[in-house]
Amino acid sequence: MSQNFDVVVIGAGPGGYIAAIRAAQLGLSTACIEGEAYADPKGEPRLGGTCLNVGCIPSKALLASSHMFEDANSHFAGHGIELKSPATIDVAAMQARKNGIVDKMTKGIEFLFRKNKVTLLKGFGAFVGQADGLTQVQITAKDGSTQIVSAKNVIIATGSQARHLPNIAVDNVTIADNEGALAFTEVPKKLGVIGAGVIGLELGSVWRRLGAQVTVLEAMPAFLGAADGAVAKEAKKLFEKQGLKFELGVSIGDVKSDKKGVTVAYKDASGAAQTLSCDKLIVSVGRTPNTASLNLDAVGVKLTERGFIEVNHDCMTNVAGIWAIGDVIPGPMLAHKAEDEGVAVAERIVGQKPHIDYNCIPWVIYTSPEIAWVGQTEEALKAAGREIKTGQFPFMANGRALGMDAADGFVKMIADAQTDEILGVHIIGVGASDLIAEAVVAMEFKAAAEDIARICHPHPSLSEVMREAALAVDKRTLNM
Ligand code: FAD
Ligand code: NAI
Repeated sequence: MSQNFDVVVIGAGPGGYIAAIRAAQLGLSTACIEGEAYADPKGEPRLGGTCLNVGCIPSKALLASSHMFEDANSHFAGHGIELKSPATIDVAAMQARKNGIVDKMTKGIEFLFRKNKVTLLKGFGAFVGQADGLTQVQITAKDGSTQIVSAKNVIIATGSQARHLPNIAVDNVTIADNEGALAFTEVPKKLGVIGAGVIGLELGSVWRRLGAQVTVLEAMPAFLGAADGAVAKEAKKLFEKQGLKFELGVSIGDVKSDKKGVTVAYKDASGAAQTLSCDKLIVSVGRTPNTASLNLDAVGVKLTERGFIEVNHDCMTNVAGIWAIGDVIPGPMLAHKAEDEGVAVAERIVGQKPHIDYNCIPWVIYTSPEIAWVGQTEEALKAAGREIKTGQFPFMANGRALGMDAADGFVKMIADAQTDEILGVHIIGVGASDLIAEAVVAMEFKAAAEDIARICHPHPSLSEVMREAALAVDKRTLNM
């Protein structure tokens, strides 16, 4: 006999596990199915999805370690701290620290499931069909055994995986996607990266800080096209100063690898044939949604042209009782977006009316300096014919940033020319990932630039740069 639940969630990434917890909090009997895409050394599925296992959390751990290493060798002297000999990096110890954080956090979700009485079902979930208002899902465990569960509501939260390029065989040793690039056992002398997106910049930075010569090959002629133009320009300048090399507008040709390393043939922006030789290559050209294992035909759930699960604004698929959230649906592939959709769907199931303002979802790139933004870019607003005013203030004029030896970058605020409503905030600078939260709150409350300008900010703090940027919108900065 099949087990019955109010809600079954397929996938225990940040979208799925948060949806399951919220559903259980709301009094719904809830199960969450997780396959062994990310398994522990014993082969047991590890919860947390891409984010905890091979994404947000391990990448930030390596970014922190490599940042400290670079600080020790390049910035301590400026503070009067002398190292008797250069700092060295023990890559195995760095990786062990990262793995320890991943272990702790993935086990933490198992605890949260027990605490909230979410039933964890281990194995891959696939649809069987629908009958009497219930959807049946089959779970296949790693030993091949199967069971079927039924639920009034099923939430698909199966996430995404790295997109690979045709004719480039990723072995995750020499040619790596995010999984291999987070697990290199030594610092490559020469590292090639295909794709100057978020992963290329973050993981390229990790290995550059540890000593690799990094060359990033990007197909688009513009650098960081999704970011505000002023931020993208500043970022490229700063990253190049740090030693990252970018080739934009390239077309990748044959990629050959052997024991000695990898050779990438490509055409540069002028069409001239070039080759890049490196010890390791990272392929970071975007991600594709995980739908193949779900047997969607059994229930008739539709996909978009690009292979994502089609949903309406409430994350409802075309089939009653089946919802989808996170990376598997269109929209930004971000953990906090997946989480918010998980909460919202659970609340909709019990009849609540939550709202997600997708314009207020922040983006962060955890390079040094960090890049963060929320809302619209100047370019997008101008293209839409919106009349705007902008204010920009540099970290260079902020005492706290100078004290931290982190004075690169600026905060740029964009407001409506007539109403002064904040339409976008773009930061490149130290602590941008935390500073952006103030802008998110302001935009959620439809604040004006003047609101931020009039709010008392602590001194000395980086947040004063946000206030000065707001003052700059009205051309009345106080400290510059
Ligand atoms: P996922 O996290 O992909 O989880 C889906 C889960 O479903 C997986 O555990 C998978 O095993 C399981 N699954 C799949 N199919 C089945 C099935 N048939 N049955 C059962 N289980 C199944 N985002 C940020 O916001 N901030 C960051 O700093 C950040 N850094 C990143 C760094 C890297 C290197 C990468 C690759 C991604 C990063 N992301 C970041 C993106 C973030 O990881 C994803 O947006 C997020 O994990 C998506 O959550 P999800 O729940 O939709 O899917
Ligand atoms: P991405 O979409 O950020 O960047 C991919 C880059 O590869 C683009 O610039 C694209 O133009 C380029 N590209 C595509 N095909 C190419 C080709 N054939 N040759 C050369 N360049 C090519 O994707 P990425 O970096 O793989 O990351 C995937 C997703 O993971 C991100 O979009 C983001 O949603 C998420 N992520 C988020 C992070 C964060 O929030 N800090 C960190 C890392 C990943």
